[in-house]
Amino acid sequence: MCGIVGIVGREPVAGRLVEALKRLEYRGYDSAGVATLEAGRLVRRRAEGKLRNLEERLAREPLQGMIGVGHTRWATHGRPTENNAHPHASERLAVVHNGIIENFRELREELSARGHVFATETDTEVVAHLVTDEMDGGKSPREAVAAALPRLRGAFALGFVFDGQENLLIAARQGAPLAVGYGDGETFLGSDALALAPFTDTITYLEDGDWAVLTREGVEFFDARNAPVTRARLRTQASAFLIDKGNHRHFMAKEIHEQPEVVGRTLAHYLDMSQGCVRLPFDLPFDASKLTRLTIVACGTAYYAGLVAKYWFERYARIPVEIDVASEFRYREPPLDATGLTIVVSQSGETADTLASLRYAKEKGQKTVAVVNVPTSTIARECDAPALTLAGPEIGVASTKAFTCQLSVLACLAIAIGRARGALSLERESALVSQLIAVPGLLAEAIKREPKIEQVSATLAKASDVLYLGRGASFPLAMEGALKLKEISYIHAEGYAAGELKHGPIALIDESMPVIVIAPHDGVYEKTVSNMQEVAARGGRIILIADNRAADEAAIDFHAVVAMPAMEPDFAPIVYAAPAQLLAYHTAVIMGNDVDQPRHLAKSVTVE
Ligand code: G6P
Repeated sequence: MCGIVGIVGREPVAGRLVEALKRLEYRGYDSAGVATLEAGRLVRRRAEGKLRNLEERLAREPLQGMIGVGHTRWATHGRPTENNAHPHASERLAVVHNGIIENFRELREELSARGHVFATETDTEVVAHLVTDEMDGGKSPREAVAAALPRLRGAFALGFVFDGQENLLIAARQGAPLAVGYGDGETFLGSDALALAPFTDTITYLEDGDWAVLTREGVEFFDARNAPVTRARLRTQASAFLIDKGNHRHFMAKEIHEQPEVVGRTLAHYLDMSQGCVRLPFDLPFDASKLTRLTIVACGTAYYAGLVAKYWFERYARIPVEIDVASEFRYREPPLDATGLTIVVSQSGETADTLASLRYAKEKGQKTVAVVNVPTSTIARECDAPALTLAGPEIGVASTKAFTCQLSVLACLAIAIGRARGALSLERESALVSQLIAVPGLLAEAIKREPKIEQVSATLAKASDVLYLGRGASFPLAMEGALKLKEISYIHAEGYAAGELKHGPIALIDESMPVIVIAPHDGVYEKTVSNMQEVAARGGRIILIADNRAADEAAIDFHAVVAMPAMEPDFAPIVYAAPAQLLAYHTAVIMGNDVDQPRHLAKSVTVE
């Protein structure tokens, strides 16, 4: 899963390819490379590690070609070495690839038997040889690509340039996103609109099965049966977003601090503040009074947002909720009938497993709503109703502002569906809406606890294991807090339901393992206090995230207290997310880790 770009240009392209790749680094950053044509001949530059290594390489060994492709990699097949870095090439062509070719072993055997020699451990290299093989048989580049594509199984986006072809780039899409862009006598290819934003605001998304021929004069599209097709040109907003860190050291810090603003903006989109009610910006594509069941599917942080929302949907809409991670959901053949609704949650709108789950639910006749941050993404386009989070582009790999915006939208959906089902009175709705209106201000207050959080992080940075506990809706938040720590500090952390502690994890407690407890003053607070007593009695060091009243009532000798503003507890997970994020952030900074691009991870996971 990777980012790909391509330019058929009127000026040298290498610098611009790298510029576009920087905007795609969220898709992976194990290695990077570009290929251009120098005096008609294919030349590649590749480098292991982050994009800056490729930049240094290009500074030492510049390229002047006016056509080229580029790639930033998240390794699936083969280690992240320079040799395995894209573009992959034969004497005839160079190819960049995002996705997985599932039948690459068979193809590799077949092509090896015909004399092709493979130089890498990747699945992508078979694509280079397969198309080359067709060309060796006398086909033109177009004919060769058209013949090769039906033989590839899996999800992929591809970009090809050809030796001796100064005005030809071929792209193909099956399951992985891909867009082309239009310039003045130039055409562009990119994994998303963001990559193309510096060059153009006019783009076309390829549809699944499409392939396209790019020249300086324009773009021709073909469908899976090789019939010429027309695809709509769209104006994108992507360029409007300035992608910089502002006054912050890292994107993650900037994105944590942006939360009061973007959560406020998102809530304003869903609430009628003067009437004190939820007003969805779209019609619900189903009759809520007849809904029998709700299914929520997502991955990673978005899954934890869904888990928090399960508590809200059950409480406010009185509807049974089933929730699963998308990689499990899509293959376990869950029975779904047409009276149910599926909600998928995804920042990128491109996560392969989440997309497959959405398609599964649609196949079963369910209506679908997607809580999604990228309005032009595949998930946003394929669901019945996109419920947009207005978080703006999230660059830090560890999700922060997208999470709190997802929670905000899910809270509004729970209230809207609760009202439509008659499960929520107008008074109760109005009280809940008042609580939501207070959330951005409370988030700003919570973020002000940063100096204390930084202090506490020094303790975490010395630990090798951390336990995160919570009850009720704070339980999934505890899991999200643990995930944040794992992702960027590389400290082993587990999120547990506080009441489950005694069924196993309590055996782990000793003085060296910090126990972080998320405990807003809610209906289950006293139960959580009992669990904290159990930890304290065994010498555990507790870091409490709670308001002062809760901290005082507990009367426990805490290692540290991160004092949250007092608030009604219903939407505490949105506010309490901030200290969990900041704890992970400062711990990772103290440890000297690459916070925005942690090892082995990628932001958008378009492979299963
Ligand atoms: C990756 C990211 C996570 C994210 C997950 C789901 O693992 O690193 O931060 O939560 O994918 O991504 P999505 O775009 O579907 O929300």
